[in-house]
Amino acid sequence: MTVLPIRVLPDPVLRRKSKRVGIIGESTKKLIADMLESIHAVPGRVGLAAPQVGVSLRVIVISIPPEEEGEEAEDIILINPEIIKCSGERVIEEACLSIPGYHAEVKRAESVSVKGRNPSGKEVRIKAKELLAQALEHEIDHLNGVLYIDHLESMDKLQKVEPEATPPDKA
Ligand code: CO
Repeated sequence: MTVLPIRVLPDPVLRRKSKRVGIIGESTKKLIADMLESIHAVPGRVGLAAPQVGVSLRVIVISIPPEEEGEEAEDIILINPEIIKCSGERVIEEACLSIPGYHAEVKRAESVSVKGRNPSGKEVRIKAKELLAQALEHEIDHLNGVLYIDHLESMDKLQKVEPEATPPDKA
């Protein structure tokens, strides 16, 4: 397994609409293993979509950090995921590995229902709220070439992550 480099803006692969996966063959299985390795390589990383590692295929992985220390992270792998229902609305802080150094508040659903296939090809349905709902919306957006900055009313809403050592008056 390999930790894959993350593509960042303005890489055009991030703006391409990804293709659906047909048969889940060896190359897709290797992609999934490498994406899992890549997400686990950095603590706090929650989600990764195939276009972020340069592959225009509808594959996402999400790793929700454990609530209790010492527990394993919960990994979710979805192939051809689709949002089938969204409900509620909330404003939450969001950032993306492909847009380093920035964050912003975006509008997301309170809960989402998603269907897709697992790596064995079996259809799965997930009803999610909180961090998992946000991660599913964010990663499925990636498959459509959409980034969280596209949900902002204006780019003025995008905030720079300041290095902690910089005093506010020098920022
Ligand atoms: Co992202």
